[in-house]
Amino acid sequence: MRYVPIFCLQEGMQIGRNIYSNDGTVLLAKDVRLTSEYIKGLSKLGISGVYIEDNLSHDIQIKSIISDELRIQAVKSIKGIFNSTDNVSYNINTVENLAKNIMHEILNNKNVMVNMIDIKTFDDCIYSHSVNVAVLSSVIGISMHLENSKVEKLTASALLHDLGKVFISKDVLNKVGNFTPAEEKVYKSHPEKGYRYIKQYYNIAVTTYVGILQHHERFDGKGYPDGKKGEEISRFGRILSVCDAYDNLVTEIPNRKAYLPSDAIEYIMANNGQIFDPKIVKLFLRRVAPYPLGTILKLSNGKRVIVIDNNEECSSRPKVRDLEDNTEFDLTYDKNFSNVTIIGVENI
Ligand SMILES: [Fe+2]
Repeated sequence: MRYVPIFCLQEGMQIGRNIYSNDGTVLLAKDVRLTSEYIKGLSKLGISGVYIEDNLSHDIQIKSIISDELRIQAVKSIKGIFNSTDNVSYNINTVENLAKNIMHEILNNKNVMVNMIDIKTFDDCIYSHSVNVAVLSSVIGISMHLENSKVEKLTASALLHDLGKVFISKDVLNKVGNFTPAEEKVYKSHPEKGYRYIKQYYNIAVTTYVGILQHHERFDGKGYPDGKKGEEISRFGRILSVCDAYDNLVTEIPNRKAYLPSDAIEYIMANNGQIFDPKIVKLFLRRVAPYPLGTILKLSNGKRVIVIDNNEECSSRPKVRDLEDNTEFDLTYDKNFSNVTIIGVENI
């Protein structure tokens, strides 16, 4: 199986994983062959790519870090919470249970690396973004060896980090293009609005709502709302900041194409110590693959290869298979390839 961006899809390609709508119904089932109508429909929904099964990738198993069932349930529940801010006690229980289930599925998952691109539609963007940030934060919390109860609180903080957007005008939230200074001020109030609401109405840990308040603080002190610096920013705030930025970058938005995972990771590395905490970045790089399984790469020796395995020690040098002669080699450990570099990702 491999991920193919929407602009490279062709009629006849075979779907590798079910594609779901935002209410959890199957839009296109695994094994269905694409038609031009299906491709148009996917594009209209804002889906940036799909997993396909083909000869190049038939033996590559890609397992998501949480099950489809839990992801669908989580996206639905978060949508419910964002749209019914009056049903407080039900919402707290839902968030706590979701956080617990996400953490347990990740703990039980043998795949230690995030090796997948999430398939989102425009409609459910804010809700699936919340779930993705929760999954990534949980992965980071577990790698830091935080106690389970802390990982649950971190995951809950991630699920709710953008709840404050509910209290912001849709005109500002959905604006395509630059904000006016007044609009920017309104937009930047969302961490504080979410924090105030959760603090007032939710009987939930202080660390959870402080994480929400601080998810746009920057390590160099140039973030908002309080311009806190370094470890003045809570640990949850520093984790959420990296996970939030990564998931935003790999998501297509109306005026910008989705970044490739490798480009999003490069952005995070470039801002290490400025926007992001270097300790969190170091863990993130070990856990999130810049070249997910099934990615096709062009190498400096002219070869085209497909990623068949990743290792956390050196995630930027995966194990690959030559598309022409099917030989396999490991860019980290095979010394015959030590002077060969990756020069780009190929979309075919
Ligand atoms: Fe935010």
